[in-house]
Amino acid sequence: MRNVDVRLHRDFAIGATNPRLFGAFVEHLGRCVYGGIFEPGHATADARGFRQDVLALVRELAPTIMRYPGGNFVSGYNWEDGIGPAAERPRRLDLAWMSTETNQFGTNEFIDWCRIAGTEPMLAVNLGTRGIDAARALVEYCNGAPGTVWADRRVANGVREPHGVRVWCLGNEMDGPWQIGAKDAVAYGKLAREAGKAMKLVDPSIELVACGSSNSAMPTFGAWEDTVLDLTWDVADHVSLHTYYDPEKYADADAYLACSLDLDRMISVVAATADAVAGRRRSRRRLSLSVDEWNVWHQTANPHSDPSRPFAPAPAIAEDTHTMADALVVGCLLITLLRHADRVRMACLAQLVNVIPPIRTVDGGPTWRQTTFFPFAHAARFGRGTVLRVEPSAPAYEAAGEGDVSVLAATAVASADGVALFAVNRAAEPLGLEARLCELPGARVAEHLVLDGDLSAANTAAEPDRVAPRVVPGAVVDGDALRVRLPPRSWNVIRLAA
Ligand code: AHR
Repeated sequence: MRNVDVRLHRDFAIGATNPRLFGAFVEHLGRCVYGGIFEPGHATADARGFRQDVLALVRELAPTIMRYPGGNFVSGYNWEDGIGPAAERPRRLDLAWMSTETNQFGTNEFIDWCRIAGTEPMLAVNLGTRGIDAARALVEYCNGAPGTVWADRRVANGVREPHGVRVWCLGNEMDGPWQIGAKDAVAYGKLAREAGKAMKLVDPSIELVACGSSNSAMPTFGAWEDTVLDLTWDVADHVSLHTYYDPEKYADADAYLACSLDLDRMISVVAATADAVAGRRRSRRRLSLSVDEWNVWHQTANPHSDPSRPFAPAPAIAEDTHTMADALVVGCLLITLLRHADRVRMACLAQLVNVIPPIRTVDGGPTWRQTTFFPFAHAARFGRGTVLRVEPSAPAYEAAGEGDVSVLAATAVASADGVALFAVNRAAEPLGLEARLCELPGARVAEHLVLDGDLSAANTAAEPDRVAPRVVPGAVVDGDALRVRLPPRSWNVIRLAA
């Protein structure tokens, strides 16, 4: 068995995890809303149509913030269509996903659902087909005190108290040619600045997310952030990063498991670009990064666009079945986000239900946890605290397109309860990990959770519990050393009690 050494020291800290690091995303796309979180008539639905079986899994997953209503959808969305009596709401063509939008679920329903799910709402405004006026009106509708026209519309729709939505995205992926109303960096930057200015005049307490690049392969990656941040510096509180990893694009499992190195570089490049803008402006502000769309995505094997598909409400789109390999990649991506906790203050797993999902459902039927559910749920639960600087000295392997890759991805989070060590063994052999525990007197192993198995294994409606984490024995603290065996190709959480 190969061995790896790490050192855990409470004094060597990266920073505190912002609770918003463990967010997710609900878009009007496919069956995420309709048939996902909202299905009137389902056996478990409450009077509002919220599926209680899905809500139970969402609470277990514990996302802290929820982005809505898109995604590409928002760039053609009239938010006014989704308020007021449901019977009077228009049906529209959704050109982002070539679907029919019934508008039976809208802003108030979403915020109501968030409160019940115990998650913070995060809204995006349409800077594709619309602009300043619709954006400032939506902030007034959500956050205004009664007494002006849009706030009074909210009251008339049954919600007296302002929703108090804090975080707002200034459009979505505006650099993408697929985006309705896509813009170049100057056009987007100017529109985002003016929309953001008006939105903050309505409610100065809001935080704004400027659009960064849609992924690190965009031809304008880096240059886009430089221009956009220059133009929006006075209104933007965060800049977004989006990234998805498609297993079919990698030569083999070893290469796929190394894709988190791309996210690592992307974060470093965007942080450096934001700091360069700050430098030019003689600003000491270190802009927060919001990785508000990230995940694996089987786009090649399960294409989301089908020109022959007729317009219809809630077609099945991007209902990927996640494998054990996907769970390991999600684990590596979570570890990467945690390792940048000083800079990445928000992140949203995209998406929540049925669309690139940790949670799947059948219309009128059951719901289940996909493999990727588990690393996210573990990180959201045990990843709150101070991220420690963990620099493993581990063997490396050669991954196609990436070069030398450490067999171990790892980080640790210290809290009043103790320390949680998160580790992915990327190798096909077991790994012996020895962690030197510095300034952690009396630490003992509370639990070692493992998710492993055949890389192609998945959970399905017929076999919902095929892949599930297990508690394994064997991890020990001996003096100031933690010794633990990491099974081949495994996600591990080793919880040390203080
Ligand atoms: O999450 C699915 C889509 O991916 C979103 O709508 C878009 O923002 C991204 O390209």
